[in-house]
This record gives sequence, C-alpha cells and structure tokens, in this order.
Amino acid sequence: MILVLVGPPGAGKGTQAKLLCARFGIPQISTGDMLREAKRSGTLEKRYLDIMDSGGLLPDEAVIGLIARRTVEPDCSNGFLLDGFPRTVPQADALDELLASQGGTRIDAVIQLDVARPLLEERLIHRRTDKRSGQIYHLVYNPPPPGAELEHRADDRPEAVAKRLDAYEAMTAALLPFYEQKKLLHRVDGVGKPEDVTHRVLSAIGRPG
Ligand code: AP5
Ligand code: ZN
Repeated sequence: MILVLVGPPGAGKGTQAKLLCARFGIPQISTGDMLREAKRSGTLEKRYLDIMDSGGLLPDEAVIGLIARRTVEPDCSNGFLLDGFPRTVPQADALDELLASQGGTRIDAVIQLDVARPLLEERLIHRRTDKRSGQIYHLVYNPPPPGAELEHRADDRPEAVAKRLDAYEAMTAALLPFYEQKKLLHRVDGVGKPEDVTHRVLSAIGRPG
C-alpha cells in the first residue's frame, strides 16, 4: 500500500503517519525528518539548512533524490507512507515516474488533513519532539512525560511558522487539483483527538476498523 499525506504545517501529518504506519505495517518516509537527520549529522548543505530553518521550501531536486534512494530500500517492498512529499506538481510528476520505473506500483490514496490556520499556529508553537524516539508532543494537548529529551524545531519560531503556512498555501493551489483529477484525493477533518482523526482517515480510504 502506498499512501501520501498532505496538509499544512501542523496539520498532524507526522502524528497520523505513525498511527497509520503501525496499522498497515509500512514505513513512514518523511522528507522533513530525513532533512532534520541530515542537519543533525552535519551532512545537510548550508544553503539548504538556511532555507529550512527560515521556513522556505527546498528545491525539488534536493528532495526527489532523497525519495528515489529511500523507496528502493528493502523495507519499502510492501509499500510506504509519504509524509511531506510531494509538495509541488514537479515532485508529484517525479514520484509517478519513480513508481513507474519501480515496477509500475501506484499510489493508493492521497490524504489531505484539513485544519484552520489559527489552530495550526497554536499547534506548532507548542510542539516539542523527543530527540531519542522521534515522538511528537504538544505542551498542552499531549504533554511529554518527565525525562523526555525535548527538542524545539528551529522552524517552529513564529516568523518561520508564518512563512511555512504561506509557502503551503501557495504550493497546494496546484498540487491538490493534480490529485483530485486522478481521483486519489481524500479530504479529512484533522481537528479532534489523534485517534479520531485516524478513524476518519481509515473510513475515507475504505479501510475502516
Ligand atoms: P516537514 O517536517 O514536512 O514540516 P511541515 O510540513 O511544516 O509539517 P510539520 O512537521 O510541521 O507538521 P505535521 O503536519 O507533521 O504535524 P505534527 O504531527 O508534527 O518539513 C520541514 C521543512 O523541510 C520544510 O519547511 C522544508 O524546508 C523542508 N521540506 C520537507 N519536505 C520538503 C519537500 N517535499 N519539498 C521541499 N522542501 C521540503 O503535529 C504538530 C503539532 O500538533 C504537534 O505538537 C502535535 O502533538 C499536535 N497535534 C497533532 N495532531 C493533533 C490533534 N489531532 N489534536 C491536537 N494536537 C495535535
Ligand atoms: Zn511533520
């Protein structure tokens, strides 16, 4: 099964990705997580690091290469869930070509998580992530346990948050119709408890329960 999660920053892509991947036994492929990992290990080019931290989007070729290498790893043979990729029509075209070249597999569903902008800002500003486990917390809705080694993302500063939300709005103008035309797009309300959102996603893609 190949699933794609789209939605604005803070919509809950990472949170839902973990729940859906556990349910379907497929790996989560997050370009954002891969780039942050490269940043931690000092292998991310400085010009990309600056774009990321300020809330801009990296050039398409930078992320397409990451996806091309990751999706041929053995744990992807039964499918995968893409979180944060594709974000532009050229990335979506590149993904189609990649899947065609990998034996003609196809995307099963593209899930768009809908959350209004004021709530997105509130979610991002209070997000903290556990450095060791990658677990995502919210200081109010889902507080981290004592002893968690918390990280505050550089792009969760208010100026960067505003820029990321603007970049998303500009980008989706073309990406969502692209998948709508292919009859792959499922819009899901992303407000409510994470488990309730997961139920909505599963019903939307015809895999309830
Ligand atoms: P990326 O890491 O993909 O960031 P993003 O799209 O901005 O999304 P987020 O990770 O901020 O939010 P999320 O939807 O995963 O929400 P989460 O579950 O964490 O990308 C980062 C950067 O990398 C980009 O800006 C760009 O520079 C670069 N990049 C990555 N991919 C790229 C690409 N394809 N092309 C070009 N550049 C690329 O939840 C957020 C908060 O809300 C958490 O605190 C969580 O606990 C809380 N929360 C979640 N669900 C709920 C709920 N149901 N109720 C209450 N709280 C909730
Ligand atoms: Zn995320």
